[in-house]
Amino acid sequence: MEQYIIKGGNPLVGEVEIGGAKNAALAILAAAIMTDETVLVENLPDVNDVNVMLEAISGIGAMVQRIDRHTAKINGSTIGDFNIEYDYIKKIRASYYLLGALLGKYRRAEVALPGGCNIGSRPIDQHLKGFRALGADVDIEHGKIVAEAENLHGTHIYFDVVSVGATINVMMAAAMADSLTIMENVAKEPHVVDVANFLNSMGANIRGAGTDVIRIRGVKKFHKTEYSIIPDQIEAGTFMFAAAATKGDVTVLNVIPKHLDATISKLIDMGCEVEEFDDAVRVVAKGRLRSTQVKTLPYPGYPTDMQPQIGVTLALAKGTSTITESIFENRFKYLGELARMGAVTKVEGNSATIEGVEKFSGARVSAPDLRAGAALCIAGLAAEGITIVDDIVYIQRGYERFEEKLRSLGGMIEKVSSEKEIQKFKLKVG
Ligand code: UD1
Repeated sequence: MEQYIIKGGNPLVGEVEIGGAKNAALAILAAAIMTDETVLVENLPDVNDVNVMLEAISGIGAMVQRIDRHTAKINGSTIGDFNIEYDYIKKIRASYYLLGALLGKYRRAEVALPGGCNIGSRPIDQHLKGFRALGADVDIEHGKIVAEAENLHGTHIYFDVVSVGATINVMMAAAMADSLTIMENVAKEPHVVDVANFLNSMGANIRGAGTDVIRIRGVKKFHKTEYSIIPDQIEAGTFMFAAAATKGDVTVLNVIPKHLDATISKLIDMGCEVEEFDDAVRVVAKGRLRSTQVKTLPYPGYPTDMQPQIGVTLALAKGTSTITESIFENRFKYLGELARMGAVTKVEGNSATIEGVEKFSGARVSAPDLRAGAALCIAGLAAEGITIVDDIVYIQRGYERFEEKLRSLGGMIEKVSSEKEIQKFKLKVG
């Protein structure tokens, strides 16, 4: 079992290059099978979730050619199977994007029903509502979602909740329906816009992505394209909070600063200096930060995927903070782990009260999920002494070369898989 071992106390200083957005990549790879021509996707992050999606696509017969770590060619002309097995869904929920992609292109898809996960129950009723509204028969049989349609017809869909997954999934199917679909109360996240741009580059006719209403005029066929994925706002935000929590000075490179507005605004509230450039953002934290109030919301609100990172930083800030988690019900597990490092927090329902402490002391903790795992590494980098983070497979799902990037900023962190390697690290850092 791999773990991260961290010796805290060094402020992170320097520049770090941000990769392509994992959540955009997962949907774009699924959408890439919707044409029979070859699609080239660039700026893919080399993370486990993306690799599983590539396997799922080749599992149904598409040709996948990895040109290099960040580039792949996909050709969907050889697909002979419309069934996505539970093994893939268990590893990445987002393989459900193949439901919208296959239904749109072939009018048939069978995808294992995703269960809950560590951050909550995560229903997919809005996805199914959208497919049904387009005229598909959708049944749940033996743990599978079976969707089929003679034809998909443009329609008017009002989503009951703002969902990134449902917006993207239904948008993909509607892009190949007859006539006009109007989707209201949709998610406005940057990766929704990126997927719409990608589909349009293949010949789709989608307008309004990034606003509350998306209008899609269905087309019969898509064509080849070459497309580069947007930068990952969550990876960028994670390094920005790592700078804040360690009282450092970090510039994240290759980002779209506009996508980071909510994160930047909170860092400023807490007393950081933030400098924005065309495609970079610098965060400087001098001294102890201040408490603040946070509520997670759909974009452009403060992202739920950045909640644990601000949580660990607030646990070291002066004063009392509150965090309200309005998207997922089970996203405070990391606070229990953080208590082992000295944090003082109290969770009631969907809100957490955090009394900032002056310092954390290194401890052994477990990553409960992807973002919380990254946040615990930030806590370790800010703590006195040694921290060991278990279950780092979660972190590897979504962060490329995480420990290398942190080391390049002066963080003392290594991936270890034996007691011997732990001892070696301890000897090295003294
Ligand atoms: C995506 C992201 C995830 C991020 C989340 C919110 C990917 C692969 N994952 O997840 O990292 O945390 O957006 O920004 O892109 N809901 C329903 N019914 C549905 C669908 C969703 O009730 O059919 C609820 C969910 O339980 C949740 C809320 O809507 O409370 C938002 O979920 P959603 O935006 O769909 O998240 P995901 O797309 O699963």
